[in-house]
Amino acid sequence: MIVLGIETSCDETAAAVVDGARAIRANLVLSQLGEHAPHGGVVPEIAARAHLEHLDGLIAQAMREAKVGFADLAGIAATGGPGLIGGVIVGVMTAKAIAAARKVPFLAVNHLEAHALTARLIADLPFPYLLLLVSGGHCQLASVEGVGKYRRYGTTVDDAAGEAFDKVAKLLGLPYPGGPEVERAAAGGDARRFALPRPMKGRKGCDFSFSGLKTAVRHAVAALPEPLPAQDRDDMAASFQQAVAEVMEDRARRAMERFADEHAGIAAPALVVGGGVAANRHLRAVLTRAAERQGFAFLAPPPALCTDNAAMIAWAGIERLRLGLKDALDFAPRPRWPLEELGA
Ligand code: KG4
Ligand code: ZN
Repeated sequence: MIVLGIETSCDETAAAVVDGARAIRANLVLSQLGEHAPHGGVVPEIAARAHLEHLDGLIAQAMREAKVGFADLAGIAATGGPGLIGGVIVGVMTAKAIAAARKVPFLAVNHLEAHALTARLIADLPFPYLLLLVSGGHCQLASVEGVGKYRRYGTTVDDAAGEAFDKVAKLLGLPYPGGPEVERAAAGGDARRFALPRPMKGRKGCDFSFSGLKTAVRHAVAALPEPLPAQDRDDMAASFQQAVAEVMEDRARRAMERFADEHAGIAAPALVVGGGVAANRHLRAVLTRAAERQGFAFLAPPPALCTDNAAMIAWAGIERLRLGLKDALDFAPRPRWPLEELGA
């Protein structure tokens, strides 16, 4: 079962070919960083035009690398939302056009579900499992009960985790996207230098909050010399990353307790992370230890499958096809599409 995946919901144009035996035959990501960098963030109009310009060529290249033709495809999966609507429309229209011309099933994949199912592309992982999804637009803990079946344990009440990394990077004079930059700076910094808050740590439930932490960083930076000395910048990055890690560890621990309670029969429960922020090595290390303490296996896709990619879209398409699911060609792209609204 060979599926072509297309991802265009943010600022990466991506195309991939994956098969049912979990082989990633091609996985191409074209970042638009250079086009957005002068604006300090993603400009939706620029993103949509760049997707339009590059997607056809990227699909052709992915098909060539995978050595498959359209006749070999069991399905064409494209991100149907949530995301920047101009880009989502480009991906969905392209997928529908190929599907209609080649009479191949079309699959509209929920981008969050694709992040959630990536762990099953890299490992033999049965349902249910506990998911920590941390990306630029989302931050949630959920029990993944099956394809299309999610139960939310907690979410952020303000900013997403990646958004916090991106905003703090800006405060520190680091370029967009901030996550990898903050991680790099933190590697040379002292995490004990600045006392930053740990929002939500110790509270009941599994919700997150990051806006207070970001504000604390802003105030602390304002009290430092200008321009910000490199060591101060690195110490702040390390202190911030440590605060985020402690909050996530605390929230994940509570979620593991709840998951274990609700799934008493499971012998080997697993904590799975996904989304761009899950590429962060410090977070991965902290969560690995937290999972170990709770008797959970810890699963994190390789960083290139944590950040946005099309292999995860193709894989989510395979998971849906296996259940006999496909979408009609009148599917309407969705700017908002929470996981809980998915029904298998
Ligand atoms: O999943 P993703 O590629 O796109 C969304 O669906 O949002 O996540 C992008 C987010 C950005 O906010 C980026 O700064 C963050 O993930 N990110 C990281 C790291 N790599 C990417 N955050 C922390 N550490 C990283 N190494
Ligand atoms: Zn994403």
